[in-house]
Amino acid sequence: MNAADIKPPGTASLQGLLLPTTPESLWPLVKQAMQGTPEPRARQLLLGLSECLHRFVLEHAVTEAEFELALDFVVRLGHATGQHTNEVVLAADLLGLSTLVALLNNRPLKGHSEAALLGPFWRANVPFYPLGSSIDQALGDAPEASRDPALGMPLLVSGQVFGAQGQPLADAVVDVWQASPVGLYENQDPSQPEMNLRGRFRTDAQGRYHFRSVRPAGYPVPTDGPCGELLRLQQRHPNRPAHLHFMVSAEGHKVLVSQVFADDAATLGSDPVFGVTQGLVGHFKTVLKQGVEQAELAQDFHLLPGEPVFPAAPIP
Ligand code: BEZ
Ligand code: FE
Repeated sequence: MNAADIKPPGTASLQGLLLPTTPESLWPLVKQAMQGTPEPRARQLLLGLSECLHRFVLEHAVTEAEFELALDFVVRLGHATGQHTNEVVLAADLLGLSTLVALLNNRPLKGHSEAALLGPFWRANVPFYPLGSSIDQALGDAPEASRDPALGMPLLVSGQVFGAQGQPLADAVVDVWQASPVGLYENQDPSQPEMNLRGRFRTDAQGRYHFRSVRPAGYPVPTDGPCGELLRLQQRHPNRPAHLHFMVSAEGHKVLVSQVFADDAATLGSDPVFGVTQGLVGHFKTVLKQGVEQAELAQDFHLLPGEPVFPAAPIP
């Protein structure tokens, strides 16, 4: 008897066809179909995913109404995604999957910087600015002292980028983006100027960078779509702790996608997207400069060796 003659338990054969007779006997047939996928990695992932899903449905005795609800949720994630939000990315974030993939693929070697999820609001091709510029277009090049305090506390961010052997990296690119003091990214908020609170900076010969901005505030992830319904169903709050996003890149190094969280942020221990790890908590020092309170953040980055590969922007 060869392997093809072995009938999986619960299957019946009819005119040479193997057919399922019970819920449990369906999986072996699905498995056989998945095993026919020619490309090895696609085969491995499709087999693994479908096995998890089949086991999940059996273990939890998923009802028809629940299945319909789940499919409708996925359809609505797609429909709600567009110019101003990406509910598909947000759903992966709220389930902890984006953080899991970021951590799994960026295990820091000794002394390297930790990675974080990208989030839905990064944009590609943002402008390059000279070192020391402000990314806050409400501030522009005006001195901090002339700033309206209602626009938030001025912030100075500075640091150095290091390579795989601990050497300072000249010409590395530090791409930064953050929400406004009212808690909205520029691409969510038509009242902000294009590209507000985003910018790219090239490190100098010593690998140093610095720029000016406004101290970030905590903000809620979007709750007006299906992901908001999920949070309400679970009685989870939507408020991300105050943070800055960074994407740091240099030739011969892996692109580091990261975030720095304020150590005094209210929801540090309950980030709805599970993005906070110990190494990502930074200290925003408050200093008095020319009679104006200003925040300062010192943030170095240590990159892993590898090829720079950039993600696709979740929204245009
Ligand atoms: C963000 O930090 O930009 C973000 C991350 C995940 C979901 C929503 C927003
Ligand atoms: Fe953010």
